Amino acid sequence: MLSFGRTRTQPRSNRSMSLGGMDFSDPKRKNNVVGKILLAASLTAFSLREDGVIHVLVTGGAGYIGSHAALRLLKDGYRVTIVDNLSRGNLGAVKVLQELFPEPGRLQFIYADLGEPKTVNSIFSQNAFDAVMHFAAVAYVGESTVYPLKYYHNITSNTLVVLESMAANDVKTLIYSSTCATYGEPEKMPITEDTPQVPINPYGKAKKMAEDIILDFSKNSDMAIMILRYFNVIGSDPDGRLGEAPRPELREHGRISGACFDAARGIVAGLKVKGTDYKTHDGTCIRDYIDVTDLVDAHVKALEKAMPGKVGIYNVDQSTSLYMHVKKATGVDIKVDYLPRRPGDYAEVFSDPSKINRELNWTAQYTDLQKSLQVAWRWQKSHQNGYGSPLVMAS
Ligand SMILES: NC(=O)c1ccc[n+]([C@@H]2O[C@H](COP(=O)([O-])OP(=O)(O)OC[C@H]3O[C@@H](n4cnc5c(N)ncnc54)[C@H](O)[C@@H]3O)[C@@H](O)[C@H]2O)c1
Repeated sequence: MLSFGRTRTQPRSNRSMSLGGMDFSDPKRKNNVVGKILLAASLTAFSLREDGVIHVLVTGGAGYIGSHAALRLLKDGYRVTIVDNLSRGNLGAVKVLQELFPEPGRLQFIYADLGEPKTVNSIFSQNAFDAVMHFAAVAYVGESTVYPLKYYHNITSNTLVVLESMAANDVKTLIYSSTCATYGEPEKMPITEDTPQVPINPYGKAKKMAEDIILDFSKNSDMAIMILRYFNVIGSDPDGRLGEAPRPELREHGRISGACFDAARGIVAGLKVKGTDYKTHDGTCIRDYIDVTDLVDAHVKALEKAMPGKVGIYNVDQSTSLYMHVKKATGVDIKVDYLPRRPGDYAEVFSDPSKINRELNWTAQYTDLQKSLQVAWRWQKSHQNGYGSPLVMAS
């Protein structure tokens, strides 16, 4: 469990209170916007430990899941530092968070690339983190087959950098974002945490390697570690403040939820459903989905239950099929092309969430897929251009 007991009223030795540890590698372009956020925060608070306050580093916190996780943590009273290089995330999401939690010492944003070990180490040495939620990653299966080295670098190598910095700076708790892609094409369904991991694409392999590094490290460490393997994430903040806004250029590698909304908004011509003769209730493939609000709840429960020297591994999911719900949720009669089966596709891919139910007392609450999609659709409709320019905060 995370300890509230550790107190540090003095800054860490060699910790600078200046902005020196923040890496603004392109100040002309981003300093203004990032600076605004930094000014709103108190640097002192972030570099000191405070009784009763848990400081969580959220890597990738400007992205889809990371921003929702930061929102939940802030709501629950955690102190949050987001580190993101904005390669895929949106400063607009950070601005939403900052406006919701403007008090000094609540939220800090650091623009930095986790691929730069010196910068990362200096961020760790200048901030008193209690825990890390490591979301930052490139995360598109299709893209990973085109640019595998990018994936090994960004996922595997950067996780090593984060882990080394945690170890060097005595940060004791890690919650790691992993994926069902590490399982590959299992022989048996449902997928449990014991299902052999035989990933079949660089994305899944890079995440599996990162998991292996974490597990090897854990054997001689008292770090508290939770690895969450999640399936397709959908939905958005029920109060409509945050959403999913990937870069347009990633559309072609896109995720099913985004593809459905793009079809509903007329950005793409329609959807292609590959295979209608599977032994499922509607003949199409069934996949697992998890609402982002449930997913971040699982992260917070994992954080609360993480135990020193122990590793917990959990699948986080619930299962059903998607595109018919999208038609209903959006009210748009999306054009669907029904095509023959794609080789290698399973009729159903779903996992067994009983371990996380039992051990972390987590159960999905947002199980009405249509409602999750309606929430996300509302955000999509009111944010036709996502958060606007990803590197600028809309006022
Ligand atoms: N979305 C899903 O369906 C899904 C499913 C399973 C696992 N995951 C995992 O969840 C995590 C978050 O995914 P997401 O959907 O929010 O993706 P996302 O692209 O919306 O967010 C990722 C964030 O990480 C940042 N980032 C990437 N590389 C970085 C680097 N080198 N340094 C600093 N920041 C960097 C990006 O700018 C972005 O803000 C990823 O680890 C992903 O593998 C996602």
